[in-house]
Amino acid sequence: NDPRIEGIASSMRVISDFPKPGFKFKDITTLLLNPKAFKNTVDLFVERYSGKGISVVAGVEARGFIFGPTIALAIGAKFVPLRKPRKLPGAVISEKYVLEYGTDCLEMHIEAVQPGERSLVVDDLVATGGTLCAAIKLLERAGAEVVECACVIEVPHLKGREKLNGKPLYVLVETD
Ligand code: PRP
Ligand code: MG
Repeated sequence: NDPRIEGIASSMRVISDFPKPGFKFKDITTLLLNPKAFKNTVDLFVERYSGKGISVVAGVEARGFIFGPTIALAIGAKFVPLRKPRKLPGAVISEKYVLEYGTDCLEMHIEAVQPGERSLVVDDLVATGGTLCAAIKLLERAGAEVVECACVIEVPHLKGREKLNGKPLYVLVETD
């Protein structure tokens, strides 16, 4: 394992009973307060995805907007925001999904991605996998190829990885 991973893992924190009793919230804001750990996080993704012919980095609102654009800039890809409903002004496609707490929907501008483009989906965390699954569907409906999903954190016991229809998922830290 890369020696940088330990500093990343120890910079995030887990908050019990947020946002509801019984949940263990994985908080990446403390990672963002640690410039070295934040840079190492971005660097690890950039090292993995540079030179792979990826032209699209799609980030999931809101926390995927923290990591996605920095990775996109560094690998020379465009950044495509996957947004919560009724935020995007152009023509969109939509995917509903089920969350640990409630249901939600993601939208993408249909002209943002061209058929055949190689894309990477970025978010902070995969829990049940519903969010990433919706993101993958949006890109594939637009004709893009999803090369991989990249998250800082995976919660393995929720088995989100199994919801991705075999798409590869790369994570830096696992925590229950
Ligand atoms: C959180 C997290 C992921 C998603 C993971 O986002 O940032 O996007 O949940 O959950 P899943 O794997 O069970 O789908 P959330 O929708 O809570 O909101 P935010 O990113 O806007 O804060
Ligand atoms: Mg999110």
